[in-house]
Amino acid sequence: MYVSDLALTDFRSYREVVISLEAGITAFVGQNGQGKTNLVESIAYLSTFSSHRVAGDAALVRAGAERAIVQAKVQRGGRSNLLELEIVAGRANRARLNRSPTRPRELLGQLRCVLFAPEDLALIKGDPDGRRRFCDDLLTLLGPRMAGVRSDYERVVKQRNALLKTAGAARRAGSDGDIRTLDVWDAKAAATGAQLLAGRVRLLRDLRPHVQHAYEQVSGGQGTAEVSYRASLSSGGDDQVAEEELTQPDAVEAKLLEAMGRLRAREIERGVSLVGPHRDDVELTLGGLPAKGYASHGESWSFALALRLASYELLKGEGSWDGDGEPVLILDDVFAELDTRRRERLAELVAPAEQVLITAAVPQDVPATLTGVRLDVADGKVTRGD
Ligand SMILES: Nc1ncnc2c1ncn2[C@@H]1O[C@H](COP(=O)(O)OP(=O)(O)OP(=O)(O)O)[C@@H](O)[C@H]1O
Ligand SMILES: [Mg+2]
Repeated sequence: MYVSDLALTDFRSYREVVISLEAGITAFVGQNGQGKTNLVESIAYLSTFSSHRVAGDAALVRAGAERAIVQAKVQRGGRSNLLELEIVAGRANRARLNRSPTRPRELLGQLRCVLFAPEDLALIKGDPDGRRRFCDDLLTLLGPRMAGVRSDYERVVKQRNALLKTAGAARRAGSDGDIRTLDVWDAKAAATGAQLLAGRVRLLRDLRPHVQHAYEQVSGGQGTAEVSYRASLSSGGDDQVAEEELTQPDAVEAKLLEAMGRLRAREIERGVSLVGPHRDDVELTLGGLPAKGYASHGESWSFALALRLASYELLKGEGSWDGDGEPVLILDDVFAELDTRRRERLAELVAPAEQVLITAAVPQDVPATLTGVRLDVADGKVTRGD
């Protein structure tokens, strides 16, 4: 698939911009702060409803404006769809598909993007929440239904934490609190949590061979990259639950309930849910050693690229439910971060994709193999370069 038209209104630095795009390679070139990333960020946002740069939506709306609008025409398997999203900070997005109002969730899956950015280094070096988000965003792209599971689970955990806090306060005041309500929320958390957790474990199982292969390609065959799921329900130690078991939602639900029962006193005391997918992590190892804390800077970069390339391969292979699952590749400022060898390898790997959107402040950073259309970005204007 590819994006053929993009129009932004009050998105980031843009009051109004309309651009046409083509399949193949397009490089957005311009000095720092001119709005290159803002353009590709808007496209990526339509694909996952999240930004690689900010957690909330507020920064996406142009300062002083009330709402941002992103419109994109997506060409896919000979058909064309117009996706429109209105972003109002702190409120639910509003969506239209081919000009008819629809639930935002209906847009998910219409446009698939895999975005590479300097921020990806945090997947390797940063906290578990980035790795959880990586899994969940990819799950949502593979099956939009997962967006509902994610938001249900988030809501349930919030409610459950509130109840645990109340129960803790009651206990400290000498009463027993409302334990039966807590049982109900345990059941809800276990049921939705199990869907999410099993989904992630299956995802990593499917992703694993692609990650290994991509790491070999990017690094030039140095070392073996491994991904595996770290479930908080197995609480470390020798009782790591077998991966196969964790791919089964029913089995996971039972295990989550069991763990919540075991941890109830501690959860009430702390006032937070201590077990479930919101506390899990993805373990990344290189040659058997944890990438975080052991891998060199270059190795960490290769790993991050491998995770994105693997996502691309997985989506391309599994996403053929309506003829064309191949995602749009977005490379935001990545070449500046890489040495020449990695640049060349990455360029070779992404060049055949149906659409590749690149941003670069220094055009010479982009390998010559990635020649395509050049769009110059300056002062919020996008013009066709030479
Ligand atoms: N919500 C907003 N309202 C107004 N301006 C914004 C908003 N968010 C970001 N900007 C501005 O957008 C400008 C362009 O940002 P962008 O990240 O797209 O630049 P860039 O061309 O990618 O630069 P670089 O080469 O440094 O990566 C910045 O100067 C920033 O201040
Ligand atoms: Mg940028």
